[in-house]
Amino acid sequence: MQETHGKALVADLIRTQRATRQYSQQAVSEADIQTIVNAGRRAQSSNNQQPWYFVVVRDRETLQRLAACGKYADHVPHAAFALALISSDAGGAADFDLGQAAAYLQLAAWDLGIGSCITWMHFSEKAKTVLNVPADLNFHVVLSFGYPVPQQKLQSPKKDGRKPFDEVVHWERWL
Ligand SMILES: Cc1cc2nc3c(=O)[nH]c(=O)nc-3n(C[C@H](O)[C@H](O)[C@H](O)COP(=O)(O)O)c2cc1C
Repeated sequence: MQETHGKALVADLIRTQRATRQYSQQAVSEADIQTIVNAGRRAQSSNNQQPWYFVVVRDRETLQRLAACGKYADHVPHAAFALALISSDAGGAADFDLGQAAAYLQLAAWDLGIGSCITWMHFSEKAKTVLNVPADLNFHVVLSFGYPVPQQKLQSPKKDGRKPFDEVVHWERWL
């Protein structure tokens, strides 16, 4: 049985979802935030360890303080809300798991017309302090969310923003 909140096909969502850094003033409802977070929670993970925790941040001052923890985070204070992606484990598998969760979160949001941007917390220890995250947990990524402004500027506007298929895909072997 299929549970749908939007109307788009997954392939269309993947093709059209781009980093959104300019947000309208429109608030995102708590129900929609729950739908988005729930999609992240459903992601697959190594050994099904689900090493993630998500902190929902809507407070504008806290968003500003998080923005100060990343080198490329000017958009974060203008988001309708942000999610801190926190993991209980560091290293390859946990990082991969968080990446899976991030993709689900972003696609679930886009299905609702809500754009998002991954933002790296270069000053991770400072970011942990902002949200009272325990010292033994890892916190490197904030996802900011909001309805996009019309005609927003994309960072890589050429073509569809991705390398050509033949440049990155090999069949059967490298050469
Ligand atoms: C691991 C990772 C870290 C990123 N960090 C930032 C960041 O700190 N600030 C930012 O504005 N975008 C960040 N991005 C977003 C990328 O710049 C974006 O996904 C990429 O340029 C593709 O953009 P597009 O969706 O417009 O094609 C990050 C993306 C990833 C996957």
